[in-house]
Amino acid sequence: MTTAPSVPTMLHLRLGGTSVVARLDDAALPCVLHWGPDLGDVSTQALDELQIALTPPYVDSAISSQAAVALLPQHSSGWLGRPGLLGSRAGGRSWSVSFDRVEHRVETAGSADWADGAAGAVRLRSVGLDRPSALEVTTEIEVHPSGLVRVRAQVRNLGADDYEVAHLLPALPVPAEAGELLDMTGRHTHERTPQRRPFDPGAWVREAWGGRPGHDSATVMCAGEPGFGFRSGRVWGVHVAHSGNQVVLAEHSTAGWRLLRGGEVLLPGEGVLHPQESYSSPWLVASWGEGLDAFSQRVHRFLRAQPHHPRGPRPVLLNTWEAVYFDHDLGKLITLADRAAELGIERFVLDDGWFRHRRSDQAGLGDWFVDEGVWPDGLHPLVDHVHGLGMDFGLWFEPEMINLDSDLAREHPDWVFQTDHGPGLPSRYQHVLDLGHPAAYAFVLERMSTLVGEYRIAFIKWDHNRPLVDAGHSPDGSPGVHIHTEAVYRLMAELKARHPGLEIESCCGGGGRVDLGIIEHTDRVWVSDCIDAHERQRLVRWTGLLLPPELLGTHVGSGADHSTHRLLHLGFRAGTAMWGHLGVEWDLTTASSADLDTLAAWIAFHKEVRELLHTGDVVHADLPNPALLLEGVVATDRSDALYRLAALDLTVTWPAGRVRLPGLDPARDYHVSAQAPGDAAAATFPPGWGPSGVTLPGRVLREVGIQAPLLNPDQLVLLRARALPTAAVPV
Ligand code: DGJ
Repeated sequence: MTTAPSVPTMLHLRLGGTSVVARLDDAALPCVLHWGPDLGDVSTQALDELQIALTPPYVDSAISSQAAVALLPQHSSGWLGRPGLLGSRAGGRSWSVSFDRVEHRVETAGSADWADGAAGAVRLRSVGLDRPSALEVTTEIEVHPSGLVRVRAQVRNLGADDYEVAHLLPALPVPAEAGELLDMTGRHTHERTPQRRPFDPGAWVREAWGGRPGHDSATVMCAGEPGFGFRSGRVWGVHVAHSGNQVVLAEHSTAGWRLLRGGEVLLPGEGVLHPQESYSSPWLVASWGEGLDAFSQRVHRFLRAQPHHPRGPRPVLLNTWEAVYFDHDLGKLITLADRAAELGIERFVLDDGWFRHRRSDQAGLGDWFVDEGVWPDGLHPLVDHVHGLGMDFGLWFEPEMINLDSDLAREHPDWVFQTDHGPGLPSRYQHVLDLGHPAAYAFVLERMSTLVGEYRIAFIKWDHNRPLVDAGHSPDGSPGVHIHTEAVYRLMAELKARHPGLEIESCCGGGGRVDLGIIEHTDRVWVSDCIDAHERQRLVRWTGLLLPPELLGTHVGSGADHSTHRLLHLGFRAGTAMWGHLGVEWDLTTASSADLDTLAAWIAFHKEVRELLHTGDVVHADLPNPALLLEGVVATDRSDALYRLAALDLTVTWPAGRVRLPGLDPARDYHVSAQAPGDAAAATFPPGWGPSGVTLPGRVLREVGIQAPLLNPDQLVLLRARALPTAAVPV
């Protein structure tokens, strides 16, 4: 359908419980008037009435009244905040954008116009022409079967001279009930710490300038009814699906508009478009829900519907980092592999330290050749042993980095990012390789691809241990973050194309690059370098707001945590780590046989329930008791659920009281009991239901709950709720 209306018309897109109502004008990009709950079947006439209903009183000018704000709000239509598209030609020309004509087209995925669209999705594509500025601007709003919305914009230079995009920031409006903001911050080993504030007039802006989302990444910008929790309070939120410099913001204008927006931060020159060139903003991924669980569920379902989403059993892995660090010794690693296989581990990942000159973190990055001194026969003896044990093999790389103390830097100093002042500050003794340099890119691709082929590598842990500052691209030192980020995506895609089945983990000194841009090319994120289970309870919970459990790397560490030095018992460590894509990062050659038996039981249990964990709906309870956390995964048919109740602190009341179990089918009966191997706490001083469990309707479990077992700090209990078979309906 092509519409070129002379008067505004209204469009209603509905899918997955979400409605998007937009005003379409023949001289303006779409103006979203409603994004949120499904409005049902609204007649064309009612949509026209809605437009009238939402037209504000005229104040003293169109600027003050601001009847509607477009997907790319422009000053030329009266928007007084950040323009959606800001750019110019030499001398400041073409800086204000206004459209002579905009054509809107609704397309369904799979149709000739949108052959590669995600199954079941629908989109509005609008193409605006600004003749005087010689610009074509396209916006897309997609609605997916999960009810998730994606928005992006593109600008094409139709002129005869260069046009430079300063920024391209699409926006989605939220209503006035969205009075509270939630985003995240953090640091290395302490990522994704939630923070809240009122959504007051002005802008709350979260930027990343270090060439990656960063350990302090906002991750999401949510706005909701004040006090919104996991189970209640309507909430809307956006995420910028990009792995380089970026901004996400919440902007509240005193003309009454509350916008959630985001895009890429472009450095000088990065947005220059030569004639006929175009630039696209990253996807702004938008979700809403009654509570954060419903918000997340749309994102999780969207990801799970992607063709490249990892399906099937996620192999339990062993990572060697905290077991041996740089101390690579074949005998020790073989013993470690033997122990791993005995425990039922399915993948062995050799971390940092295997390549030339890499005896510490001070040298060698870039020299992607197996170190002949440490590995005289290459990695073959280890890899063959691992394969012989029935495990697959994974290897660590940090492809975007270079140590100045490396053969690569000595041979190709111009491949190191640098400005007129030289390569700038080291961080962890390393600098960044300019992957936008074709020869540097070709070298890394060749090295990685050769090693993947030679050692039949199933999994790459792709690390990235420093931010990009002074990232000047050769030969002139102009900013290279944008092309570097594009090159990273290309490199990952090319490796995967050459080696079908290859999996990649996005690690960035832990969780510094967790975004839906990198997730298009990777199969797992390393949530954090902190594997202390006490911290991980929170880290996984908040990273899970964006990503489902099967994409979250969660490891069981040794007793004394290597980053916090906290001592935690194995039941708590394993019962915490099993809630994602499970791994072990522990020198098992020093573990007691009792610990090995316990760990084997947890691994076996994880394997038993991983299909539920990796396909079910993630739920959280909003417990009034701040010392307790309750998470669950409920099968999509509601027949089965696993919950984990953890105490992170002493509870003020003792016993702690009731906990309500979210997500069950209210109309079905469930048998709830403690689940081995996480049942010890329920057995010591059992609550009434402890010995044999209890059978109650899902509605009662949701509204009344059951008594929590006694839990000391850093102790947890697993609960299983299985639906009773439904009685056969007589015919
Ligand atoms: C940082 C990662 O997050 C760690 O897991 C480990 O791979 C080290 N880098 C290796 O240098």
